[in-house]
Amino acid sequence: MLKPCRIAVLVSGGGTNLQALIDARDLGELGGGELAAVIASRSDAYALQRAAGAGIPAHVLPRRDYPDSAAYTHALTELLRRLDIRLVVLAGFMHILTEEIVSAYPNAILNVHPALIPSFCGAGAYGLRVHERALAYGVKVTGATVHFVTEEPDGGPVVLQKAVEVLPGDTPELLQRRVMEQAEWKLLPRAVALFCQGRLHVEGRLVTIDDGGKEP
Ligand code: GAR
Repeated sequence: MLKPCRIAVLVSGGGTNLQALIDARDLGELGGGELAAVIASRSDAYALQRAAGAGIPAHVLPRRDYPDSAAYTHALTELLRRLDIRLVVLAGFMHILTEEIVSAYPNAILNVHPALIPSFCGAGAYGLRVHERALAYGVKVTGATVHFVTEEPDGGPVVLQKAVEVLPGDTPELLQRRVMEQAEWKLLPRAVALFCQGRLHVEGRLVTIDDGGKEP
């Protein structure tokens, strides 16, 4: 029998994307994936309360306890190995990790980013800042991207994307909420389910989705 797809969700804040994964799990829509661990980079992350409410074992690995990104990544990778994790999901995880975790989990780390990559992404583009930049640039359409993580921040192969309209009078907060509701909370559970079902195939930068001949 196939081993279950044990998933670790890495978080730093509110955890609404974690909640979308929990909701999908409860509806049986996570492709057989098991939410095996939530790992938070801060002890005050509200996402920890969501994990407790959903019965998911939670771990706090404070970024501030480590001198640099390499030391933090090493500790994180060791923890993921100990927990026998197969898929790592960065869901509002606000730290850049080093190559060690990418080697340990090649094409097995998914990140959700609140813009249409390659726009408004890379080092320094996270959370509300992404939406501030999109509004300052004046784009009429933004969106969200789920991609595999490589050494280049936000530079890995794109799995799913969805466009979201920018509306007159938008503030960064309003736009963030619309992008979450219309794109992120749908794309992330779907990408996780596809991964767990073994339906994502990566060749270079290109991700193809095996639709089993069922979907249009
Ligand atoms: C989400 O919009 C996520 O896409 C973004 O932070 C927010 C976290 O919200 N992540 C990044 O910007 C990473 N580059 P959440 O904690 O409620 O899921």
